[in-house]
Amino acid sequence: MKKIGVMTSGGDAPGMNPCIRAVTRTAIHHGVEVIGINEGYEGLIHGDMQELTARGVGGILQNGGTILQTARSEEFRTAAGQREAIRQMNEHEMTGLIVIGGDGSLNGAQALAKQGVKVIGVPGSIDNDIYGTNMSIGVDTALNTILSAIDRLRDTASSHNRAFIVEVMGRNCGYLAVMGGINGGADMVLIPERKTDVKEVAEVIEAAYTRGKHHSIVVVAEGADVSAQTLKEKLDGMDVGFHTRVTILGHTQRGGRPTAFDRLLATRLGVKAVEALLDGETGKMVGLMGREVELVPLEKVIKTSRQVNMDYYEMCKMLAH
Ligand code: F6P
Repeated sequence: MKKIGVMTSGGDAPGMNPCIRAVTRTAIHHGVEVIGINEGYEGLIHGDMQELTARGVGGILQNGGTILQTARSEEFRTAAGQREAIRQMNEHEMTGLIVIGGDGSLNGAQALAKQGVKVIGVPGSIDNDIYGTNMSIGVDTALNTILSAIDRLRDTASSHNRAFIVEVMGRNCGYLAVMGGINGGADMVLIPERKTDVKEVAEVIEAAYTRGKHHSIVVVAEGADVSAQTLKEKLDGMDVGFHTRVTILGHTQRGGRPTAFDRLLATRLGVKAVEALLDGETGKMVGLMGREVELVPLEKVIKTSRQVNMDYYEMCKMLAH
């Protein structure tokens, strides 16, 4: 293998840059040229790419976002789009591809693998909804951002005797909400995996008020069946003791300097992805299983949707007091 491509695709995640750096330097170490593809599959289809050098990826380790930029490509979902992508790879003499991204991006990687492209996926998404890895790149940083927000909100909540409803990301997976809830001391967490009983939420908050607490925190995943705003409106009509406020953390969770955990994870996954390609592997994702980085078939990854472990949900409820 003489030349490989690397791209970031889908929603960005802190740690994508250290992964690009690791991929580039590992490949160059093995005498393989690296092409950085801009804006994910969009850039591949339209030939928007350039060579990455070992020095060129210097100074990005500590930065959030992705120097290659990213996109969600509608065109790549079509057969014609995929044909263009393969054509560009051939024109640029790339014989291997590394795709760093979430479930949609890994779906795309599998589509290429099925058509004979040598491709390895790397899980990058703050949601932690990707099967085949304990943690995806960006999750730890996003969680730390959530905790720093909850810690600040608790200060102001306690000063005013308020309940704060904090909305975090997670369309289909309540991982960030549950982990944010456990580690941020929430009284209740609303997640897509669980049907919400607003009466129960109201009782939990009111009980916290009656116990003499000066604040209450409720974390709501964006994919929960009751939105943060709707919950506030319902609680306001019920008198739960506290007055409520809503804070939506939104895209602040996607930015920021990657934590040490994310830098190391991204680096290990990037190194392994290149080694896998050089070993002739294809149609696989590199994932953290226990303490080891292992290869998981992309077919299995895209067929299985990973949801939060409900033991943690129960733990969060038990510890709220
Ligand atoms: O998949 C990552 C994610 O951050 C989700 O948690 C969120 O629902 C979505 O991306 C937001 O996407 P966009 O940045 O396109 O609005």
